[in-house]
Order: sequence, then structure tokens, then C-alpha cells
Amino acid sequence: MNNIKLDLKGILSFVSQEEINAWENKSKQYMEYLHKGTGAGNDYIGWLNLPAEISDHDFDKIESVAQTLRSECDYVISIGIGGSYLGARAVIEAMSNSFEAYYPTHKNPIILFAGHNIGEDYLSEMLSFLKDKRFGIINISKSGTTTEPAIAFRLLKELLEKNVGKAKAKELIVAITDEKKGALRTLADSEGYQTFIIPDNVGGRFSVLTPVGLLPIAVAGFNIKELVKGAKDMSGFVGEDVDFAHNMSAQYAAARNTLYQNGKKIEILGNFHPKLHYIGEWWKQLFGESEGKDHKGIFNAAVDFTTDLHSMGQWIQEGERNIFETIISIETPDNELHIPTDEQNLDGLNYLSGKRVDEVNKMAELGTQMAHIDGGVPNIKVSLPQLNEYYIGQLFYFFEKAVGLSGYMLEVNPFNQPGVEAYKGNMFALLEKPGYEKETEEIKKKLQ
Ligand code: PA5
Repeated sequence: MNNIKLDLKGILSFVSQEEINAWENKSKQYMEYLHKGTGAGNDYIGWLNLPAEISDHDFDKIESVAQTLRSECDYVISIGIGGSYLGARAVIEAMSNSFEAYYPTHKNPIILFAGHNIGEDYLSEMLSFLKDKRFGIINISKSGTTTEPAIAFRLLKELLEKNVGKAKAKELIVAITDEKKGALRTLADSEGYQTFIIPDNVGGRFSVLTPVGLLPIAVAGFNIKELVKGAKDMSGFVGEDVDFAHNMSAQYAAARNTLYQNGKKIEILGNFHPKLHYIGEWWKQLFGESEGKDHKGIFNAAVDFTTDLHSMGQWIQEGERNIFETIISIETPDNELHIPTDEQNLDGLNYLSGKRVDEVNKMAELGTQMAHIDGGVPNIKVSLPQLNEYYIGQLFYFFEKAVGLSGYMLEVNPFNQPGVEAYKGNMFALLEKPGYEKETEEIKKKLQ
């Protein structure tokens, strides 16, 4: 069977194979940090064995709760932010028909997302839309104390209770949170919601293969067993016993750090299929939050090609030469569409008549890769044979293992995120949250 592949040829005119290979010993050491749990952040490496540890019982519980929501709801609102949001959205957007929501009837509930912003218009418009709809809620927060999802949940819970009554609403609300602590745990226990636990040793951005990702994905009608199987197989391909030269995650981590040390401070993740947009968002969180600390780290951005070639393409081609790119390539799309012939040929497009649209897309991809390399942008390619749950599972685990190694190569703790607290402290002080009296006083002085 084919698997996802990593191709580093497009960086070898910028850095040498020897420079990449020079990471071999360190990579071995950092692999050991992960597998023996001896590195920084070792209380958050539960994701490493997650795919192998998910039992049939876990799958059955997720599928059974998903089935209830599927039969009772036309819309399910997945509430969460960051790691409690992006994994599910990445898979659902990648796997869904791009126009599913516009069809008058749906085989599966449509998953809507809330709690990932505090936009008043967004929330108001969502509430207006849902007021006469059959909907349910999956409320996800590991800490159980995050403001954005808490606001969204309060509003949506109120609407749901108004629509169907308190007792029925309880059957349509699922909470995914910590086993013991946090406001969401207290609320879920006191209301008697169905709950799933996020393991203590799995951080938000590594939680897609826990119920955080798996429940919304199952509700949307996608195959969570295949997703986990893909990740499990990849855990073997990038395991501790796989030598550096053949270990994709180690190679990618080494390549990135070599480029970084050679002045390439920005990495863009590009795709040539709009369905992959949220894979890029998930990847941004995984790498940005894991590595951007101690005033170090590659800045991660994601771009959708060819769309962004008509905007950011100029910067990528000719801006400051501190950038490299990683392109996710899909070898075979699900559909086959040929460009029609036109007798008049007024658009001059007959030279493409009969060609598959994907053939044109592939030439755009190859042309872009060559232009970027010529323009000074090293190119890494990650190819998926097809876009399905199994290969997305492989991709997730490949990147997760890579970021663990890459973070250690950068000499940071890849598993914490102390920086995300700074805005919260200011926001709470500005909102005069009880317990923040001193901070409120200080921030008011700063504002004078
Ligand atoms: O990676 C992280 O830890 C964060 O980005 C969180 O995922 C995000 O802040 C949501 O946190 P929580 O699940 O506790 O609401």
C-alpha cells in the first residue's frame, strides 16, 4: 500500500544533505526523550501512544453518542478554540463535499463551529440561524475555563433549552473536558451531561485523536477508525527503531532546523486544494505553539494555492529571502473532470481541451515549485496518495512526531504554551474579572 511521502530534494540547492545528516545523533537522543519521557514537557507526551491505546470500547462509546446526535440533530455545534477546535475542523473540511451545506437535504448533520472567536455578529447570526433548527452541542475545553467557548456555550445552551426544554437539551449536549477539574467539568456533572475525558497528558494541539477530534468527526459521518489506523501505522513508520535516514518525521525536523539555522525563519504550508485550508490552520497551531518561545522559532503561515499565488505569491517569489515552504500535495483527487472543447475558442483555452482539471493543477504545482526554488525559496513536499481519513491520520501523526523532535532540536519545550496566557491576563483585568483587582488597577494606569 502507498503511504504519505516526504521529498526534500527541493531544499538541497540551499542546504546540503551533510548538514541535514548532522542532526542524526541529536535526533536519536530526542527520539529517546520522547519515548522514555526524559525531555522537557514530558508530562504532555500522551499523544505518542494514543493511536495504539484507543480501544474498541472507546470507539463504541464515541460512535454511540455520535449516532444519538446524528439521529436527533440537523446541525451540531462544536464549541472550542485552538486545540479543542482545529483538528476536528481540519478533518471535516478536508473530507466534506465543499457544497454540502447548500444542499437542501443532508445525510449527516452539518457541523458548525463556535467558541473560536468572540465576534458578536458571528454569534448573533448563528443564534438567529439555529432558532428554528434541530441542533445539538458538543462543548469542548480541556481546561474548562476558556472564555471564548464559555460565552458561546452559555448563549447556545440558553437557545437550546428555550427550543426543546431543559430536560431534552441535556440529551443533546455533550461535554469533553478534564476528568476532574475546571468549570466545564463542574457544570457537566451538575447538569448531568454526557461527557468524554481529555487525558491529562495530551495537550490541546495534540488532542485530535481523542474524543476532542473524534466525536465531531464521527458525528459528521467520517470514519474515525481509519483516521486512527492511519496515525497508528505512521507511528510505526516514524518510530524510535526507524533509522534517521528513513524516518520522515526526523528528516522533516532536521530539514526545518537546518533551514532555520541558515536564515530561513518563516515556513509556509501550502496546498493546492481548498479543502486543505484547515489542515494548514491545524498545522499552524501545532508548530507555532510548540516552537515559538524563548524568542526563537520558525514563524508558521499557511497559504492556499493557486488562490494565494495571486496575492502573497509576489512576496513569496521576490520578498525577503527568509522563507521556505512545505507543500501538501494530493496525488489523486476523488473526482474526474475534463476541460471541455469550445468551437469558437474565444478564451484561447482549447490547448487544454480534454485535459483533467487536476493535470492543470499539477502543472501549476510543479511550475510553482520550480519558480520558488529559482527565486530562493527551498521547497519541501509531503504527498498524500489520496485525501481520505487514513492518510490524514498518517499526516497528523507525521507532523506531531516531527514537531516533538523539531522543538527539542530548537532547544525549547515543545509541549507548553506559556505565551498564550498574556492576552488573557490583560483581557480579564480590563473586564474587571473577580480575582484580577490588582491587575485591573495596573492596566487602568497604563491606559491613562
Ligand atoms: O494548545 C493549547 O493548549 C491551546 O491553544 C488550547 O487548545 C486552547 O487555548 C483551548 O484550551 P481549552 O481546551 O482548555 O479550552
